Amino acid sequence: MKKKPAITNDLMRSFGRVNGRKLRDTQQYLVDNLLPKLEIRFQVSGIRNQEIGIDEAVLAPDLFAKKAETWIEVGFGYGEHLVGMAQKYPDVNFIGCEPFINGVATLLKQIDDEKVENIRILHGDARLLIDKLPEGSIDRIFILFPDPWPKTKHQKKRFINTESLNNIARIIKTNGRLDIATDHVDYGNWIAQHLSSIENFIPNKELGIDTKPDDWVETRYQLKARAEGREARFFNYVKIGIKTSA
Ligand SMILES: C[S@@+](CC[C@H](N)C(=O)[O-])C[C@H]1O[C@@H](n2cnc3c(N)ncnc32)[C@H](O)[C@@H]1O
Repeated sequence: MKKKPAITNDLMRSFGRVNGRKLRDTQQYLVDNLLPKLEIRFQVSGIRNQEIGIDEAVLAPDLFAKKAETWIEVGFGYGEHLVGMAQKYPDVNFIGCEPFINGVATLLKQIDDEKVENIRILHGDARLLIDKLPEGSIDRIFILFPDPWPKTKHQKKRFINTESLNNIARIIKTNGRLDIATDHVDYGNWIAQHLSSIENFIPNKELGIDTKPDDWVETRYQLKARAEGREARFFNYVKIGIKTSA
């Protein structure tokens, strides 16, 4: 079967690999047969095509079986947080975005094994989806351990910046939540500084700004970081209802 590319765009890449080691037969089977049923595609002039890129029908009525809150996870890695949350909140609709096909395949295996029904997938750059979503359409967004890009010359690749936060502020509903975590000290300071410059986000007073949310599901990356002596820093924010500058 021909390899299907992740949906990417002309933006500076905020991610590393899109392909890792060759998929096992079961993973490839799920990518070929289950992913097409769950993935978000972009539609233009009635033509469905991975490469085209623009969509009015992103939240088409058939995207989820039921109308409910929609939560997005940007960069779900191998999907353990996404699946864990989807099981904790069966009445919420989840969209996971990830360009790394091996992560997507691992998520598909969990969805298939556990019979999880409330996850849809964007195999590609989350920024494409965020750009196309209507204002105030999303209830909660997670960005867990985004790539830290530690070298100064690579910092421009960081997913969190003023532009992405303004775009996220546009699509989150008033009183909706933004939850970010990082284990990287410098990126943590960068995230705090950028969040403080976005008027639409205020710290989530109920949780406290640097507190692990009760419903947190630990990720593979987080466990590895802890084993190497790096603890997570949490950023729990709420969108307030002033006009966005995005
Ligand atoms: C350090 S990993 C963390 C993965 C996972 N959140 C975890 O905690 O195990 C960062 C992930 O974000 C993904 N990523 C980076 N930029 C992205 C983007 N623009 N859209 C979607 N995913 C992205 C990468 O492919 C990578 O899998």
